[in-house]
Amino acid sequence: MIMVTGATGNFGRPLVTELAAQGRKVRALTRTPERAELPAGVEPCDSAAPDFAGVSALVLNIAGAPGSTAALLGAAKAAGVRRVVTLSSLLVATDGEAAAEGSTAAIHRDLEEAVEEDFEQWTHLRPGGFASNALQWKAQLQAGDVVHGPYAGACTAPIHEADLAAVAVRALLGDELLGLAPSLTGPQELTLAEQVEILGAVLDRPLRYQEIGPEAAKAAMLAHNSWVQEEMIDSLLSFLADTVGRPALVTGEVERILGRPALTYAQWAEANAAAFSALA
Ligand SMILES: NC(=O)c1ccc[n+]([C@@H]2O[C@H](COP(=O)([O-])OP(=O)(O)OC[C@H]3O[C@@H](n4cnc5c(N)ncnc54)[C@H](OP(=O)(O)O)[C@@H]3O)[C@@H](O)[C@H]2O)c1
Repeated sequence: MIMVTGATGNFGRPLVTELAAQGRKVRALTRTPERAELPAGVEPCDSAAPDFAGVSALVLNIAGAPGSTAALLGAAKAAGVRRVVTLSSLLVATDGEAAAEGSTAAIHRDLEEAVEEDFEQWTHLRPGGFASNALQWKAQLQAGDVVHGPYAGACTAPIHEADLAAVAVRALLGDELLGLAPSLTGPQELTLAEQVEILGAVLDRPLRYQEIGPEAAKAAMLAHNSWVQEEMIDSLLSFLADTVGRPALVTGEVERILGRPALTYAQWAEANAAAFSALA
C-alpha cells in the first residue's frame, strides 16, 4: 500500500491516478475523505488521522501536512514504512546550503534531512516551478484577459505535474532513483509573460500579463495558498526577482528518467483549458 499526502492536489491527483491505473493499492490523505472524488480503487483517508496499516511507502508533500510532517514521519517509521518519496524543491539544490530559516529552500532541505535520518529508502524530487501555478490566475482569467502578477520577466522552466507524478511512480516502484534527489524542470525556459501568451494561444484569447509590485503579489499568493507562511512567499518572490533577465535552469532529468521528452507548457495549457473558462 502506498500512502500519498496532498493526494487531491496539483501533484497528488495525477500521482494517485497513475498509481491506480497501474493497479497499485493507494491510500490518499485528504481533509475531506467523504467528498474527495478520487479515482476508482483509491482509498480516501482523513489526513488528520492517517492510517498506516499495511503501508510500505509514503509520498510526503508538505502542502498536505503543514506543521505535522515530523509527526507523520514518526508514525510512518513506527508503522514500518520502508520507503519515502519526498516532494521537495529545486531551491534546495540551488539555495539549500545558505537558505534563511523559514524559506522555501530551508523548509524542504530540513524535510529531506528528516527523511534521510529515519528511512533507508528515499528519493527527494526537487521540481522547479509547477505549470499548475497558472491556476492562481484562474479567477482573473475568468473575469477578463489580463493577468496581474509580479516580475513579468521572471524566467523558469515550468514542469507539467503529470511528468512529476510519472517520476514519482518510478521512485516508488523501482530502485533506480533510491538515494537520489533529481532536479526536475520542464523542457523550455519561459517568462511569466510568455506563459500567459501560450495560455492565450491555447485558449484563443488575447491574454496579457500586467506586472504588479511584490507586496500586492504577496497578498494574492497568500490568499491562493492556504498552507504557506509569509517567509515562504518572501523567498519565492525574491527567487522570481533573481530570475529576471537570466537563463532558467533546464535540467533534462525528466526526459532522462522517463525516456521520453518532458511535456510542454502548451500541453499543460491544453489539458487544463477548461479551468479558465467562465463556467469552470
Ligand atoms: N508550486 C510550485 O511551483 C512548486 C515548486 C517546487 C516545489 N513545490 C512544492 O510542492 C508542494 C505543493 O504541492 P501541490 O501543489 O501538489 O499542493 P497543493 O495542490 O497546493 O495541496 C495539496 C493538498 O494539500 C491539502 N491541503 C491544502 N491546504 C492544507 C492545509 N492547510 N492543511 C492540510 N491539508 C491541506 C489539500 O487537500 P485536501 O483539501 O483534500 O485536504 C490539497 O489538495 C509544496 O511542498 C511546494 O513547496 C511547489
